[in-house]
Amino acid sequence: MVKEWRVHNPDGSRRVVVTKELPGERWLNILESADCRVEICQSSDVLTGVEIIDRIGSQCDGAIGQLTEAWDAELFAALAAAGGTAYSNYAVGYNNVDVPGATTARIPVGNTPGVLTETTAEMAVALTFSAGRRVVEADRFMRAGRYEGWLPTMYMGQRFVGGTVGVIGAGRIGAAYGRMMVEGFKMNLVYFDPYPNERLEEFVTNYSAFIEQQGGTPVTCRRLTSVEDVLAEADVVSLHTALDTTTHHLINAERLSLMKPDAILINTSRGPVVDEAALVDHCRAHPDFKAGLDVFEDEPAMKPGLADLDNVVIVPHIASATVWTRQGMATLAAANVAAVLQGYPLWDDDDVLPFLSGEVPAAAPSIVNAADLGLK
Ligand code: GLV
Ligand code: GLV
Repeated sequence: MVKEWRVHNPDGSRRVVVTKELPGERWLNILESADCRVEICQSSDVLTGVEIIDRIGSQCDGAIGQLTEAWDAELFAALAAAGGTAYSNYAVGYNNVDVPGATTARIPVGNTPGVLTETTAEMAVALTFSAGRRVVEADRFMRAGRYEGWLPTMYMGQRFVGGTVGVIGAGRIGAAYGRMMVEGFKMNLVYFDPYPNERLEEFVTNYSAFIEQQGGTPVTCRRLTSVEDVLAEADVVSLHTALDTTTHHLINAERLSLMKPDAILINTSRGPVVDEAALVDHCRAHPDFKAGLDVFEDEPAMKPGLADLDNVVIVPHIASATVWTRQGMATLAAANVAAVLQGYPLWDDDDVLPFLSGEVPAAAPSIVNAADLGLK
């Protein structure tokens, strides 16, 4: 099927290809200010590599792509051959991008951190409670007209306050989730990450002192030495690692068997971090175990049996889906491309909020292969 494309600022001297419509206007204004003609695919179908290469054509300065597309070495070679020098993923994760391939083609790869941290953590919290308190199951029960009156034993779920929350991957999103669970529900935090997150530990220490001052029970934060230790100790485990060869099937049958029989597993990272078929088996064998999933191994497909399980809550990869965040991601992706095309330096602050309002800083918010390309 031929796909429809919309053109913004047709007279721009630079040409930027955007493979999906993005929310808001600010991102378009940024590219227009950089003298870009912006061509935006209007289809909701995933574009193939051939379709993208076709659109890049013989002259293209930059592109904004999606996590559903495989941006491989061939695509970056095609972009470079068309004179392209800029790419941004519309996502913080970039497992869909062959970064070495982009580096070989001398193309900086942008991503969109910093605007989706809390939003994604909030979805992880929402899934935690939906799963633990059986919200979706109970909602289905109501809609089916099966509620015949209050009962002392109906839909009993998990209690969170004072329990132990486990975070695997304590980067920005994992740390935000951990803080929310500690602050909101006075949970003790255990985490696994190759690197200690000192800010997170300090936060919990200070917060605990505050709680004690108020006459409450102190809370703790401990970095454990293995994923296994976190799985064995926590009542809720939330996954926040990037997907790479070291985290593929990080959660498999053997590791699931280490978890408490009534534990909750949350995944808002990437589907293949969990062996989904093993999770289906585990949830089937342990009806008190719960899972909340935003991402799937063979997205958009689910492994057979997953959708039949009452103890699993599933949503379609929407953890970053708030208007503010999705518009912010568009702004950052556009700012990455516009900055590279205009030869601007890298933004040297973790805080990217200055890009979201007022005058746009003359800098690239986040380039993942900046060091390899010698960018400053
Ligand atoms: C979404 O999954 C992202 O990586 O931004
Ligand atoms: C992503 O923003 C992370 O570092 O968790």
